[in-house]
Amino acid sequence: MSSLITTEKQNHTLVVRLNRPDRKNALTRKMYSALADALDNGHQDSEVRCFLFTGNAECFTAGNDLGEFSAGLRDEFRASPVGRFLFGLANATKPVVAAVNGPAVGIGTTMLLHCDLVLAGTNTRFQMPFANLGLCPEGGSSLLLPAWLGRVRAAELLMLGGAFDASEALRLGLINRVCEPDETETTALALCQQLAAQPPAAIRATKDLLNRSSLKALEATMLEEGELFGERLKSPEAAEAFKAFAEKRKPDFSGFS
Ligand code: COA
Repeated sequence: MSSLITTEKQNHTLVVRLNRPDRKNALTRKMYSALADALDNGHQDSEVRCFLFTGNAECFTAGNDLGEFSAGLRDEFRASPVGRFLFGLANATKPVVAAVNGPAVGIGTTMLLHCDLVLAGTNTRFQMPFANLGLCPEGGSSLLLPAWLGRVRAAELLMLGGAFDASEALRLGLINRVCEPDETETTALALCQQLAAQPPAAIRATKDLLNRSSLKALEATMLEEGELFGERLKSPEAAEAFKAFAEKRKPDFSGFS
């Protein structure tokens, strides 16, 4: 497994850590594959009763690596590294907890929509700047956010793509608790231990029932989003956004119709 993603068993919890601090834990294809493998391996391991996804006290993830975005998706979405990871997460049968701090951008926010418990540090900045990058929503966010937050709140987060903090995320019902950044992970681990001590079949049944009514529609939406996202990655708008990021300037969309 790549050292950019590390896994470690702590009691019955598989701690999956994003570990690319020099790039704000931006996720590459290799990292998505390692995350998908970690989910597969954790499900096959009878000692693992819970997953914890985290980064460090300063950063969860700056989202997809913008350099790799320029290269496009390359595969059919479901079989792509990011598709494997997102479908693995949406279909997880063991509970998934996330402990996030600092930037939680793009998929760093949308992956949380598939977690069972989410804890965030006071320093967390959530953001889904897909439209800002000439892209479109992913990870089932175009289905889940309007259903959970209401249409206009979802539109604001997805169209304007602004950042919001942990107290706003708590108010919106996207996270369970706000923690001091250096306590997010330990607090989450304590919850993982609580989950691991619960009767596992009852937890699996509960998770299945929580997800069952929306899973089919969610999968269909993720595929549609993935297809459109692949097209948007090749768009001149996205090219301008990626170029602007590399040149550390604001993108200029004034010439597009
Ligand atoms: N892909 C590739 N590299 C990234 C990255 C990403 N998503 N996010 C950050 N980096 C790189 C930066 O280019 C920078 O590299 P450099 O040191 O060679 O200049 C390094 O990581 C540190 O990032 P920096 O922007 O200096 O950190 P910051 O604390 O000032 O800001 C963010 C953090 C996350 C707010 C900012 O990096 C950002 O907006 N990143 C892009 C997020 C994004 O749009 N993701 C895609 C979502 S769909």
